[in-house]
Amino acid sequence: MLEDAGAENLDPEECMSRAEIEALQLERLQWTVRHAYENVPLYTRKLDEAGVKPTDIRSLEDLRRLPFTTKEDLRQTYPFGMFAVPMGRVRRIHASSGTTGRPTVVGYTQTDLDNWATLVARSLRASGVRPGMKVHNAYGYGLFTGGLGAHAGIEKLGATVIPVSGGQTARQVQLIRDFEPDVIMCTPSYLLTIADAMEGAGIDPRSTSLKVAILGAEPWTNQMRAELERRLGIDAVDIYGLSEVMGPGVGNECIETKDGPHLWEDHFLPEVIDEDGEPLPDGERGELVFTSLTKEAFPVLRYRTRDLTRLLPGTARPGMRRMEKITGRNDDMIILRGVNIFPTQIEELVLGIETLTPHFVIELTREGGRDAMTVRIERHPNLNRETCQAATVVLAQRIKTHIGSTVAVQLEEPGALPRSEGKYKRVYDLR
Ligand code: DLL
Repeated sequence: MLEDAGAENLDPEECMSRAEIEALQLERLQWTVRHAYENVPLYTRKLDEAGVKPTDIRSLEDLRRLPFTTKEDLRQTYPFGMFAVPMGRVRRIHASSGTTGRPTVVGYTQTDLDNWATLVARSLRASGVRPGMKVHNAYGYGLFTGGLGAHAGIEKLGATVIPVSGGQTARQVQLIRDFEPDVIMCTPSYLLTIADAMEGAGIDPRSTSLKVAILGAEPWTNQMRAELERRLGIDAVDIYGLSEVMGPGVGNECIETKDGPHLWEDHFLPEVIDEDGEPLPDGERGELVFTSLTKEAFPVLRYRTRDLTRLLPGTARPGMRRMEKITGRNDDMIILRGVNIFPTQIEELVLGIETLTPHFVIELTREGGRDAMTVRIERHPNLNRETCQAATVVLAQRIKTHIGSTVAVQLEEPGALPRSEGKYKRVYDLR
């Protein structure tokens, strides 16, 4: 469908061998640790407390001698305490809202912005985008890194950016019809909202000009990929990132393999750790941790993302490792009467039943002193209520069999649940 990017079009780092990448990582790690130690008081203190000096970092294994950095560290230094360059060198500030408390504030020098644009351009190329294509960018513009981060990468690649931002769905549908973009960038849940709005307006979502969707900023499953690809007649590719580490484009799936994002390891050093903070071997599941390797304004040492995944060998870019598609975050995990449940597990089961819609939310309540979970799911508009009711019974059974929990499933009328306009709020904790 799309021409392949020949090796001559890739960044030189994408063609490096594993040994070359690791040599580059060590050199950049040594620079980063020194830079962070000398310029950020929190890192000076933490490294001193751990008894580690920048000169102690002689191999990549020495990484594990460094203390972790947490979201709490960033909160305590709000707003600019983690910046490693004078404010006069900071060209841009972003912030991530977070669900509670103060936002996390991050900064970028001109070099950081250039690297970011290069990595987003690389991510887009891996997704099948080529110069000359039009990209409808529906990630939110503003303090969120999604909109402006994607924007710069689209331009850097030599594609045409249509900077729509999020929301106003009817207008998004109109612009897709009129401007005929090849590519859309948004959250997976918002693409679902857009597909519904197309149908509502009498437009077949498969009939538009769109060929590729680059989706991220929230967990989504391979089942959701299949659903979106089928409904829109597109290829759906996964883009990963987080503000603290850069923004979108820390890693991206390659369209030819769609087997989880390759992490751009020339700029970020990933680890996966267990609950006690011990590094796990590749292939084992745990919390993803990143050390930045080139960032000037906001270097991070062993930043705990709370995202759960495992590291896998590279495929389409053999020098860089991949990660398995993220299934959830530590803080997304529902503990229901002793059983751990991730919303993505419910998503997988919902999408496995054809007579259900993908529109569902999870409610947690307390009934008679016990925790209870209700999946509220919208009825299929084209099927009768009995058929849909029967499907909810099947869903409850599958949740019991596959996850081991007894939950209630409640059928809702079409359009009863809130629609996504960005990151979707799936879980309502009413306890
Ligand atoms: O969501 C950056 C971004 C924008 C990524 C656009 C991709 C596209 P934050 O708002 O700081 O940054 O949220 C970061 O979102 O730690 C994950 O929990 C989640 N996340 C981001 N991408 C993915 C993905 C942006 N592809 C947090 N799959 C991260 C699963 C993702 N979760």
